[in-house]
Amino acid sequence: MSAYTVAVIVGSLRKDSYNRLVAKALAELSPPELKYEFVEIGELPHYNQDLDAEGAPPASWTAFRQKVKAADAVLFVTPEYNRSVPGVLKNAIDVGSRPYGSSVWDKKPGGVISVSPGAIGGFGANHHLRQSLVFLNVFPLQQPEAYLGGAAEFFDEAGKLKNERTRDFLRNYGVALSKWVQTHKAG
Ligand code: FNR
Repeated sequence: MSAYTVAVIVGSLRKDSYNRLVAKALAELSPPELKYEFVEIGELPHYNQDLDAEGAPPASWTAFRQKVKAADAVLFVTPEYNRSVPGVLKNAIDVGSRPYGSSVWDKKPGGVISVSPGAIGGFGANHHLRQSLVFLNVFPLQQPEAYLGGAAEFFDEAGKLKNERTRDFLRNYGVALSKWVQTHKAG
């Protein structure tokens, strides 16, 4: 069975980010048919349409666009900021969506996971993100939904997953995502 690459985009720049730890744990627990590649978004300049119009996009935009375009699928793992998506993630989405007609998101299967120390598990961010994905023609896995609350209890001091329920959930999510991506790639 061939391996498919999943571009993983983490919506937090925090060095001890729970979202990044969850994404890493998922990558370790997932079946081998998926190869996870983290694509960084922290250095992308704010989107400015003039730079594309002038034909001189920043090199970091071009590199980001190429990495996402080359991937078979996209996985967003994001915190919720003020009941929505962090600005840094929205900026990355906007950068990847342009120039008009050349969006790197188009027709990609994928997934959305939101992670929060709070009880609601980033539900608001998860669904605001899904609103953009409808327009961008990304096909995120619907079930299982992934709103991971109580994230401060998931990891030990070394950043290793210590919570069995979360481990089982992520293992199952990885299986579902793998099937979803394979179904899409098979046409
Ligand atoms: C937050 N946080 C937060 N949490 C939440 O569940 N809902 C929210 O609306 C917000 N809003 C919010 C705004 C801003 C500006 C910050 C900095 C934080 C708390 C957030 O979930 C917490 O900081 C997480 O630890 C962020 O995820 P990472 O960085 O651990 O991945």
